Amino acid sequence: MITSNELRRKYIDFFKSKGHAEISGKSLIPENDPTVLFTTAGMHPLVPYLLGEPHPAGKRLTDYQKCVRTGDIDEVGDPAHLTCFEMLGNWSLGDYFKKESIAFSYEFLISKDWLALDPRMISVTVFAGDENAPRDEDSAGFWKAVGMPEDRIAYLPASDNWWAAGPTGPCGPDTEIFFWVGGGLPPAGSNKGTDPGNWMEIWNNVFMQFNRVDEKTLVKLPAQNVDTGMGLERTTTILQGKTSVYQTEVFQPIIAAICASAGGYVYGADPEKDRSVRIVADHIRSSTFIIGDPKGVLPSNVGAGYVLRRLLRRAIRHGRKLGIEGSFLSGPATVVIDNFQLAYPELADNRAKILEALVAEENKFLETLKTGEHEFEKMLPNLLKNPQKIMSGRLAFKLYDTYGFPIELTEELAAESGMKVNREEFDEAFKKHQELSRAGADQLFKGGLADHSEVSTKYHTATHLLQEALTRVLGPHIAQKGSNITTERLRFDFSHTAPVTKEELEKVEALVNEQIARDLPVTMEIMKLEEAKASGARALFGEKYEENVKVYTMGDFSKEVCGGPHVERTGLLGKFRIQKEQSSAAGVRRIYAVLE
Ligand code: ALA
Repeated sequence: MITSNELRRKYIDFFKSKGHAEISGKSLIPENDPTVLFTTAGMHPLVPYLLGEPHPAGKRLTDYQKCVRTGDIDEVGDPAHLTCFEMLGNWSLGDYFKKESIAFSYEFLISKDWLALDPRMISVTVFAGDENAPRDEDSAGFWKAVGMPEDRIAYLPASDNWWAAGPTGPCGPDTEIFFWVGGGLPPAGSNKGTDPGNWMEIWNNVFMQFNRVDEKTLVKLPAQNVDTGMGLERTTTILQGKTSVYQTEVFQPIIAAICASAGGYVYGADPEKDRSVRIVADHIRSSTFIIGDPKGVLPSNVGAGYVLRRLLRRAIRHGRKLGIEGSFLSGPATVVIDNFQLAYPELADNRAKILEALVAEENKFLETLKTGEHEFEKMLPNLLKNPQKIMSGRLAFKLYDTYGFPIELTEELAAESGMKVNREEFDEAFKKHQELSRAGADQLFKGGLADHSEVSTKYHTATHLLQEALTRVLGPHIAQKGSNITTERLRFDFSHTAPVTKEELEKVEALVNEQIARDLPVTMEIMKLEEAKASGARALFGEKYEENVKVYTMGDFSKEVCGGPHVERTGLLGKFRIQKEQSSAAGVRRIYAVLE
């Protein structure tokens, strides 16, 4: 049996044997990308390179990347969906294209030296064509050339076979690879087009040739790229002859720990409870990865912290459905840390932080539940006067909105007193509330995926000048603690214990403007990380870098290891103005600045 750890290694080794450089996966929290909360695909950290920036490790790359997608958090619990998953990826940045990509994938899947899957169990899809790109006869031809029977190739429209990470950014037609999960052997003529329910997608090869600039504009990329992503958990499932990711060794130990907390519940005994177990297992794994990330997040009421809070609270609620009253998340979280630390050593490094954060959030939520229950009891005498035994949705929403008390629990308490909640009224109030908060969240997606517009690029260059200026004015202890760029401003967090005085801020601002006035050339060089550090280039402490890195130099002023992109001369930036300086966390200050 191939384990998930072995699959990860085999994938990387295979692509290394085909001339790919192994690069390290990146943080779950995208740096310098205000448009998404989490890394959602293996290609996400590679967007600049797919758009044309040269990659220091070359044109053939491979890695494994942890990803989080929480768009459908409320649906998680079925046998296939996960909020956190690993993507195995290989890329060609303007090197090979469809023919080699298809041949590599098929060889890896069926060769006796690699996964040795039965070719009769595999089918594929290719792009049927539309106004953006023609019917992909090329890919179909390459599939036939490696031995794929014609009736296992389905031509599907853009909704299936056009891949884009976001509303803007690199995209293109793809060919997807499926494995038969319908039992026995697939009948002749069966493919994803004729029999969609019985084929599980395991790999997606995207032929990225376009950049979507806005809704109406699709421009050709400078190079024809390949971006592939294989789902580690799904492929492990088929390699182990299972039908659900939760039956594999990826999840079984986590499930065992949850069942132990639930008084020895036996997974498989009750479909409703099984669903709760799956939800807890998925959410605790995601939460452990999110808190344990090098740029880890803690539960809060905004952004990624809010998503984390929702995951944890949903896990705790489902824990209660399993009969667990107290704090229990650290047991399964410890299993996650132990089992994934080989691939993600940061989990073990952050063990104490993860466990502490989980217990703190559990206690906080249990407190919320207590308050909510108390408030409900106060309402009860009045509620019982209602002859129809219906609790208004408005009141239930008040419990949710004011105390964070979940509607499902209000319904449970109401039922204990023989009452029903007017769910329609609650849903209406909830929807209104969601629309309001979504209006805020939508701002996050305004620019599409990683924004490499000219304005953002300028802010990126200005950030380097700012950091150097801060170091010169405040001292060598200045280290970057966070950076966030939108098309409106830059935000920079750095280590410094005292507030920065007005005079110091003026000096920093003047120093940056001086470098802009000097119109310094911005140049890029690729070198070994050690060489870069020895040359005095600034690098982020604790960041994982490749062996070869890009170093951006701005005249005689600044030198920094960075993926780019940057403008060509500092003179292009305009006038730099610091808007605000404030505390960000203990020992960390934050500056907002604009280019005018
Ligand atoms: N970027 C492609 C995906 O995530 C491979 O499916």
